Amino acid sequence: MSGEPRLRVDVIHGPNLQLLGTREVQVYGTTSLAEIDARLIELGEELAVDVHSFQSNHEGEILDHLGSLGGVADGILINPAGLTHTSVALGDGVAGVGIPTVEVHLSNTATRESFRHHSYVASVAVGVVAGFGWRSYLLGLRALVGQLRDASS
Ligand code: DQA
Repeated sequence: MSGEPRLRVDVIHGPNLQLLGTREVQVYGTTSLAEIDARLIELGEELAVDVHSFQSNHEGEILDHLGSLGGVADGILINPAGLTHTSVALGDGVAGVGIPTVEVHLSNTATRESFRHHSYVASVAVGVVAGFGWRSYLLGLRALVGQLRDASS
């Protein structure tokens, strides 16, 4: 990837994801959030992307952070966690900031409870990656960066 202009991708982790590694390990696996962030930074180096991560359990903080990324981030990778299924405001925030966004989930939400089948973010995202555990984040980052590079070429 040498010669490619460096990009910035901001990763947003929603509520309860700070518990990854110990939380419902049969669903979410044993990899911690810090390990996921480290793997994203490592992949970012390979792709010439600066990766910045943020986690909050508070919807308003997530919206404030998202809104602050205009003119800062080239792309956003978001696991909205429970807010995926409840937050009109988060969908509005992603649409409003206008930065290409990929939604990721560790679990395959389509195979889980019906309340997890709807996402307020998916309709304003570039795409969704779900069901690959921690690898969903890496797949999402690769896909997002591919789209960003295509769009700028
Ligand atoms: C999740 C799926 C959501 O339904 C759930 O509320 C989460 C995690 C996932 O990564 O699989 O907290 O976003």
